[in-house]
Formats: sequence, C-alpha cells, structure tokens
Amino acid sequence: MECIKSATAKFNQLVEEQLARIERMNGSKDFVDYKSLDTIVIGICGGDGIGPIITDESLKLLRFLLADEERSGKVAFKTIDGLTIENRAKAGKAIPDDVLEELKTCHVILKGPTTTPRQGDPWPNIESANVAMRKELDLFANVRPVKVPSEGIDWTFFRENTEGAYALGSKGVNVTDDLAIDFTVTTTEGTRRIARLAFEYAKNNGKDRVSIITKANVIKTTDGKFLDICNEMAKEYPGISTDDWYIDILAAKLIDQKRRRDFQVLILPNLYGDIITDEAAEFQGGVGTAGSANIGKRYAMFEAIHGSAPRMVEEGRGIYADPCSMMRASVMLLSHIGYTDKAAQLEKALDICMYEEKRLVITGRDTGAKCADFGDYVMETMQCRMQN
Ligand code: IPM
Ligand code: MG
Repeated sequence: MECIKSATAKFNQLVEEQLARIERMNGSKDFVDYKSLDTIVIGICGGDGIGPIITDESLKLLRFLLADEERSGKVAFKTIDGLTIENRAKAGKAIPDDVLEELKTCHVILKGPTTTPRQGDPWPNIESANVAMRKELDLFANVRPVKVPSEGIDWTFFRENTEGAYALGSKGVNVTDDLAIDFTVTTTEGTRRIARLAFEYAKNNGKDRVSIITKANVIKTTDGKFLDICNEMAKEYPGISTDDWYIDILAAKLIDQKRRRDFQVLILPNLYGDIITDEAAEFQGGVGTAGSANIGKRYAMFEAIHGSAPRMVEEGRGIYADPCSMMRASVMLLSHIGYTDKAAQLEKALDICMYEEKRLVITGRDTGAKCADFGDYVMETMQCRMQN
C-alpha cells in the first residue's frame, strides 16, 4: 500500500539520521576546561514573553559578581537578540541560522524562556527553541535541583535531554488520516553519558543514593535499554546504592511526606524528566523558582524551567514576573564555569530573599513585588553579606 511505503521511507530517513547522530556522539571529545580558556564567552539570550524582563535582572547580578573578570577579559558577555517568536516565525525555524551562529561563538549561554507554538496558536508550528538548542548544541544533560530545606527535600534530577520522546518529537508520521505514529529513541552512548554524569555528581557531592526512573514494564525496548545501561553503570559506583522506580509510582512517592526525603539523585528519560521536574518544583514554590542547567561537552545553557508566559505580558503583568528561576540558573552557570564561591554568594542571597527574610514577595501580579525591585533586593542582600 502506498501509505505504508511512504511511512517506511520516512522511517528509513529517521533511522539514518539517528545512526549519524550516534556517530557524532561517539566522536565527541572531552568537556571544555574553562580554566584553560583565555576568555569565557557568556551569551545572554533574553528570549521572549517575560524572558527579557527576568533575564535582565540576572545579567545585572552576573556582571556585578564577575566585574573583575570582565575587566581583565577573562569573561565576556555577549548579548544575543533575535530568539523571539516573531523572528523565529519569520525564518520558519526553531532557531534562525544567524542566531545559531552567534550562539555557537559562546561557551555558555543564559537563556530566557522562549515561546513554544502549540496547536491553535497564530504561530507556525515550529519546533520549540529549547528543544532545538539542546539538539543543535548537544546539551545532553538537563540538571534540575529542587530543595526545600524545611521539609528535608534535596533532589537533583538528571533528565536526559536529547533523546527519548523528544528526539523525534516533531518528526512523527501521519500514516493515514486515521493513524499517527510517534517514535521514542534510546541509544547506548546517549544513556551512558547521562548516567555517568549523574553517578559522578553523586560521588562528588556526598550523595549515596541514585534512583533510575523509567516505565520499563510497558515501554520495554527503549526504557528497558535505559534501565539496563544505568544499572550497568551503577556497578562502577559500589559506594552508591541504586534503585529503580516506575515513573507513575515515583510521581506518587514525591508527595509522600515520609518517603520523599529519601530521594537524592534521580536519572530519567527526557519526557518523564520534563513532567516530574515541574511537579518537584511545585514543592519549592512553583516553576518560577526553579532553574536548570543544560550541559554538553562543548556548550552549556542555563535557563528557567518554565515557559515565556505570554499571557502575563498580554495582561500587562510582565513587570511582576518572578526572576528567581533565572537567578537559580545563574547560580548553576557560575558554578559550571568554575566560580563556585560566587555561585555560593548568589545562592545564599537568593535563599535569604526567597525563604528566610522574604522582605519582598513575588506573586506574579500587582499584589506582589515587581521583578526589578526583587532584583535590587537580591543585589543588596548579596552586597551587604559580602561587606560583612
Ligand atoms: C522544559 C520545557 C520545555 C520542554 C518546553 C518548553 C518545550 O517544558 O524545559 O521543561 O518540554 O523541555
Ligand atoms: Mg517542562
């Protein structure tokens, strides 16, 4: 039948692309050593919606903390405009070519949220800019910490970031009007590299438990492979106890007050990681409070875990947006490029402003503080602590 032929041809093409990706992955070199660079280029990409508003507050803090380094040339900031939904729609691409070229001149990127078109939008159905950037820059690990000290919660999620349901998320096949098929991808190296990073993180940060999350009882081939490879990797870390959970029961256990504090480091395929990290962030005060690191060997990108909230901007509430997610992302950026002391200074100031002192509170509307005022509050808190 013609429809089978055409679907098979599309499938062949997808398999070829994935095999080529495996070749590239296997050939990729070691992680960048930031110390050895003359200049670390930090790209600042505001995105759209509330993105530029919340990114700006982080940029001020980063420039303050890295003032000496910027002066000496060890660090350079590079503003990258153009990752807006209007530009992306005009180019008909998730990331316009010229923007991608600019991104590739950076070592690390602080990226504000970008609008992801969805069905029924006025926008063309282009791929999400986050997803495209993760693929283009091979940012394979999405590291998302969630902490609620008063509840004993201290979780670090290692979400696989380039494979799973996302690898071919915009390349599914409508075989006929009645049959649609999507694909999920697991590769050996793609799983090994995320598992390695998670176990190394556990080892280097005094964590003694790693949990592997799948739905391998149903999604037997790809999740089964993911689980096998993570279990195999666990053997190299005898000091760390490893367990595995299915995603449904994990979602339940995260709201079990007695059990949830036992989780430490979790490894998840892409889609489960996406869903669970939103749930997890809710315990900490919502997605507006959570930052995320997208780490690859050559590039790394740091962002909020939430979207661009176009409705807030339409309703004139953009100035009340919560900048904390981007500030948490900035903490991760500083620590990733080796400035762990500066990262700790910013993190402490954020903890004070968000959880301890709470002189200003963000509500997302005019009942709460403005984004810029909260930014000043964090800056003052940090400066004050540095003087004392
Ligand atoms: C995230 C977001 C993205 C994702 C969206 C915006 C495509 O939800 O970073 O978690 O699904 O990965
Ligand atoms: Mg998400």
